[in-house]
Amino acid sequence: MSVEYDITTRIFTLHTKNSTYQMQADSLGYLLHLYYGRKTKGLTDWALAFSDRGFSGNPYDSSNDRTYSLDVLPQEFPVQGTGDYRNTMLEVRNDKGVYGCDLHYFGHEISEGKYSLHGLPAVYANPNEEAQTLTITLINERLNINVKLLYGVLPDKDIITRSIIVKNEGKNPFTVMKLCSSCLDFTHGSFDMITFHGRHMMEKQFDRQRLHHGSHVIGSRRGMSSHQYNPFVILAEHDTAENSGRCWGMQFVYSGGFEAAAELDQYNQTRLIMGLSQEKFSYELEPGEKIIGPEVIMTFSDEGLSKLSQNYHECIKKNICRGKFRDLTRPIVLNTWEALYFDFNGKKILEIAEEARKLKVDMLVLDDGWFINRNNDNRALGDWIADEAKLGFNLGELVKYVNKLGLKFGLWVEPEMISENSRLYHEHPEWAMIIPDDKPVLGRNQLVLDLSRHDVREYIFNSVSKLLEQADIEYLKWDYNRSINEVFSHKTNNGKVIYDYMLGLYEILERINKRYPDVLIEGCAGGGGRFDAGMLYYTPQIWCSDNTDAIDLLKIHYGTSYGYPAIVVSAHVSSSSNHQTGRFTPLKTRYTVAMSGTFGYELNPLTLSNDEKNEIISQIEQYRKDSAIISDGLYYRLSNPENETFCAWEYLSRDGSVALINVVVLLNHGNMPQIYITPRGLTSGTFYRDIENGKIYASDALMDSGFPLKMPKSDFEGYTFRLERLS
Ligand code: GLA
Repeated sequence: MSVEYDITTRIFTLHTKNSTYQMQADSLGYLLHLYYGRKTKGLTDWALAFSDRGFSGNPYDSSNDRTYSLDVLPQEFPVQGTGDYRNTMLEVRNDKGVYGCDLHYFGHEISEGKYSLHGLPAVYANPNEEAQTLTITLINERLNINVKLLYGVLPDKDIITRSIIVKNEGKNPFTVMKLCSSCLDFTHGSFDMITFHGRHMMEKQFDRQRLHHGSHVIGSRRGMSSHQYNPFVILAEHDTAENSGRCWGMQFVYSGGFEAAAELDQYNQTRLIMGLSQEKFSYELEPGEKIIGPEVIMTFSDEGLSKLSQNYHECIKKNICRGKFRDLTRPIVLNTWEALYFDFNGKKILEIAEEARKLKVDMLVLDDGWFINRNNDNRALGDWIADEAKLGFNLGELVKYVNKLGLKFGLWVEPEMISENSRLYHEHPEWAMIIPDDKPVLGRNQLVLDLSRHDVREYIFNSVSKLLEQADIEYLKWDYNRSINEVFSHKTNNGKVIYDYMLGLYEILERINKRYPDVLIEGCAGGGGRFDAGMLYYTPQIWCSDNTDAIDLLKIHYGTSYGYPAIVVSAHVSSSSNHQTGRFTPLKTRYTVAMSGTFGYELNPLTLSNDEKNEIISQIEQYRKDSAIISDGLYYRLSNPENETFCAWEYLSRDGSVALINVVVLLNHGNMPQIYITPRGLTSGTFYRDIENGKIYASDALMDSGFPLKMPKSDFEGYTFRLERLS
């Protein structure tokens, strides 16, 4: 059993293969957190310490026990208004505007299988995979609030998930002002917080900061998980490194605004919480209504950051991504965006498709610019009708021609948006999220549709369906190119819009997934603006960045690798000089970087030299050979591109027999110190042979000292090493 309950002490224990999580419903009915760490036997209530702490209040029911304070004790579900002045998970206001809500343990249930969440993405268990759910019910009798804390355990994956359901069981409405799904309290210890900040075209930059007294808060107020902060954080002890030390992760399965806060308090205790952003959120619950706090995926590793990442990789690959593409090598695409932008016609597309076929890509993706009136990015969003005059064909015909050449066909869409200059806006200005009589903030000169409305969701579903019905479209790039600013709906209570928007998006994607299981959807939000586990539940790959520069991508991929597996990371080889940075890089390097995920090209093949074409043909051949190890292998970071002159990473086959090691040199320097590459995870006590040059290495020495990289001759050289175990 991975979930145990000790009836005498009221202690709950969640066991995974390598970790244990423990909490206690104490005699006052509060849920105290006891332990999350290395797998252990027994009960750990001895971990609680009680002392009289001035200005830390005591619950009335503690009968003036001044050593009992929720301001100090480690909690599982800290709630505002209970004398805990740290960051809390829930804030409730009644219909008179009074804050506060004290919740007490009421009961619990342990069930087989992993819970799911109505209308929200969540980790699922596979058939025959062991999984259990613990549901703890807490109640407040004054307001008649019923809270269910959900814990899901996937023991083999070392994963524990948390979610929360708040229900109004009373006769009067109340409003949820803050809702978090997960909390981790540490009574002592000193930690770094690792986060992934960024911006459009430079997402998921690794950042590691020592916690100081106060709160270190990251999040997004943009109605999207955002380029600015990824909804994923790690707490690590100061000496935790890639292959040693303790660390804890929280990853949000949600694509809207979020907040993650780590607080070091007055007694040097640390609390980490994660949940919905409070920005423009005040969710009124009428009697009988409820709200679900999106899921947080937690994992613990005492073998360093690589293991923590690998736990997340497995979970995202096999328990978040769904559908037939989950386990398939994804098509190698040629995308028209950086090749043509808006400047094309049907003839040009077919010329490119013909060249793409010769290069042996699988699919042509027609990016933006294919629908009526869309010759630049100022207009026409919402009118999802192919521009036959521009294309020279209807969509069905175009796709048939492309298919005839032996290529699959994919299409770009941005269904959540509306342009003022569009037929749709003319007909339905009230569908755009703008505040009446006010001037909206524009983003890429476009507005966001109000997905909290049923009629808007119907429109989006029907227009996307219509496209998919009229042509054999096997892939959609589902884009989203601005942040939400005006949170206003003509139909929905305004405090609910920001959350209901996400429910609306998930409902549409679920319907499309169900009706068109053979269509692969790639998520995108100007690159990685919505790169999160929520989207991955519906779109098993996401365009990682609008920056296709191989050298910038090294850092973006490096940050991404902490929480997400390579198979979900979409990246393309583009032209040199690069369109975003102007940088020149060798084709080999661009391939080495892009192939570290789901892979394709985004350049005009008509402008390539014969040598380049031949190189691309061999790259594609090679990728087909390597794709299994890239998608299924264990991933190791072998460098830190922040402070090293190179970036290196490794994929190791499950049985340890083959290692694929990619290296890219950053800036070359005169008389550079020698670079050594140190593989990891190889089978100890064996020998490995470099397939290219035949060199043989003893695995232990290699993992200790590494092998020397030949002195680079210029900046940005890229290498791939394939090591095979000699059995
Ligand atoms: C966004 C995407 C790009 C491209 C353009 C098209 O920026 O991230 O890849 O599709 O839109 O307008």
